[in-house]
Amino acid sequence: MTPEEKLEKCYESFKSKINFKPSVALILGSGLGALADEINVTSVLNYSDIDNFPTSTVPGHKGRFVFGYIEKVPVVIMQGRVHYYEGYSMQDVVLPTRLMKKMGSEVLFLTNASGAANPDFCAGDFMLIKDQISNFVPSPLTGANFDSLGTRFPDMSEIYNKKLCDIIRKTAKQLDIKLREGIYIQLTGPNFETPSEVKMCRFLGADVIGMSTACEAIAANHCGMKVCGISCVANLGCGLTDKPLSHKEVMEAADKAAPLFKKLITQSIINISEQFELS
Ligand code: HPA
Repeated sequence: MTPEEKLEKCYESFKSKINFKPSVALILGSGLGALADEINVTSVLNYSDIDNFPTSTVPGHKGRFVFGYIEKVPVVIMQGRVHYYEGYSMQDVVLPTRLMKKMGSEVLFLTNASGAANPDFCAGDFMLIKDQISNFVPSPLTGANFDSLGTRFPDMSEIYNKKLCDIIRKTAKQLDIKLREGIYIQLTGPNFETPSEVKMCRFLGADVIGMSTACEAIAANHCGMKVCGISCVANLGCGLTDKPLSHKEVMEAADKAAPLFKKLITQSIINISEQFELS
């Protein structure tokens, strides 16, 4: 089966189970999944119930689509994503993003937990993603182009939609939530970086480091979705602190930030829907 046929099969499987057209797709990062439990849920679809769908193996990642409404906005939320470090191909990693586009989503709202490369950042900070560096992982667009989705050589000059960024900025102000801005770099993981690698990332212009998001943003941009993203800084990068890092620490930091994060994301989505007149 080609990757394009696989996507089609997943879409058929989704359609046979769920009748819902989201306008906004939201991917929740490590430790941030609880947000999905608090929206007005209309249906839930476990990844394992979609034929051919890649399922996550990371503790803390639930692995399901949640469909419902944030006020009047129809949303599909990914509670848990699959990562490249789990052994999936990049095509598989971005399959869910493409699937959410096929469901009808016009906007992709990305979230993640990250480590800071910028020494001015603190654990618990939120960062609006303005741009990204993804050259340390393979492009999800390698292989035969999905002509039905987008062009072979897509432009990436504005992966993170400026108008969406503006709405999120204003929303943070409105809610009196401090919002940093900066560049996200995706590395393969699953190991955290060495101090020298964190220095390298900083030198390259990155503010935060993570193991997801950039590939999804590329795939979403390729298929014409409008993309925005917020990173939750879970820890300082290695070398910026003396303490060894652990997944537990990342999850705890994300947990702590979750209530404020939820407020910022839900209000941003409401404001986006009003200002973009999504169908
Ligand atoms: N590095 C990479 N990914 C991460 C980190 C980190 O320090 N923290 C959370 N995700």
